[in-house]
Amino acid sequence: MIIKPIVKGVVARNAHPTGCKQAIINQINYVKAEKPIVNGAKKVLILGASSGFGLASRISLAFGGASADTIGVSFERGPSEKGIGTAGWYNNIFFREEAEKQGLIAKNFVGDAFSPQTREQVIDYIKSEFGGKLDLVIYSLATGVRPDPVTGELWRSSIKTIGEPVTGPTINIETDTMEQMTVGTATDEEIDATEKVMGGDDWASWIEILSEADVLDKGCKTLAYSYIGAKSTYPIYHQGTLGRAKTHLHATGDMLNNKLAKIGGTAHVSVCKALVTKASVYIPAFSPYILALYKVMKEKGLHEGCIEQMQRLFAQRVYGDKSAIPVDNQRLIRIDDWELDAGVQSEVDKLIAKIAPDNFALVGDYQGYKTDFMQLNGFELPGVDYQARVDFDSLCQLQP
Ligand code: NAD
Ligand code: NA
Repeated sequence: MIIKPIVKGVVARNAHPTGCKQAIINQINYVKAEKPIVNGAKKVLILGASSGFGLASRISLAFGGASADTIGVSFERGPSEKGIGTAGWYNNIFFREEAEKQGLIAKNFVGDAFSPQTREQVIDYIKSEFGGKLDLVIYSLATGVRPDPVTGELWRSSIKTIGEPVTGPTINIETDTMEQMTVGTATDEEIDATEKVMGGDDWASWIEILSEADVLDKGCKTLAYSYIGAKSTYPIYHQGTLGRAKTHLHATGDMLNNKLAKIGGTAHVSVCKALVTKASVYIPAFSPYILALYKVMKEKGLHEGCIEQMQRLFAQRVYGDKSAIPVDNQRLIRIDDWELDAGVQSEVDKLIAKIAPDNFALVGDYQGYKTDFMQLNGFELPGVDYQARVDFDSLCQLQP
């Protein structure tokens, strides 16, 4: 069959396996050519490994100098009568194939990271086949729901403001249009639920259970990813429900750092740049900011994608010759430093003021935004023959 992209609103309904493979290879080639990670981790568990920052972390640690063996946990769907499956499904498979060619271990667990069964399987695997110890645990889940570990009831996150509602334009990728929408204010219950889903609780429980199982090596590090962003986005993000959840994540980082001190380890949160991912295109009224940011950062030669961010994070902040990881006064790693550069932000503010439904593709970098989105799903990658037939039965043979 020939696979054409199907997009509904801001959600991709299919993926192109050949393009996903090309995207993995492009990222591998990028990190191989960059400043390498020195004294990096060798045994890594990545929760949320199949796309976005988690996948970029995995590629960077395996191919960007550390030659790490990795375990990746993700929630993805393979091919079935329902369709071709998700991009992350293929990313897992093609990453593993490339890593194995280099003699690296790349084990994939496709399942619910919140479930006790997944934790058990991962721990069994670490003990029986992965050498028994981890020296880095990355927490990069992005999801809208999490079951309460006690009752099994689902918490659902809400992307809302706290205080005043905000009205602003949002991109519809399916129709290439910009539509006004209002982001409503969250109730206390919605604020709490969002904190449960996207805050630090689950990160803490993973570290707890890994520590009890005695699979964290001396000096083991753990990292989670956060976003703060520029003042212009505070009402929607930093001061909204997601920002509240991230504040909880930051506090969890401090708590875990104290805990891991007993084994000479550390816990950090890295604040990353705003980028187009499966998760971020969902945030209402946020797209004008990304359009403006991409435009300005590309003009200034400062633009980075997930892979550039993660290679810089590991090579220049987390590992290397420094005696301690450089952090700000809240103990956060700031790999969003180029985004928040004052010169960048003053240009971004000027563009945002101009962006409107009839000019957003000219004023902002909509082309870059859309191409990133399509490429996340394996489409529009240079060099891929999209007219070539893809054999569904052979896709079904591929195993994580
Ligand atoms: P993403 O959607 O690309 O990746 C999310 C990952 O989580 C995928 O691997 C997915 O399979 C996995 N996942 C989701 N639910 C799961 C479950 N129940 N069990 C197992 N795996 C599950 O998202 P992303 O943008 O890379 O986000 C990762 C982190 O980075 C988040 O904490 C996010 O807030 C943060 N971050 C994102 C941005 C941005 O602009 N995208 C900026 C800064 C920080
Ligand atoms: Na991720």
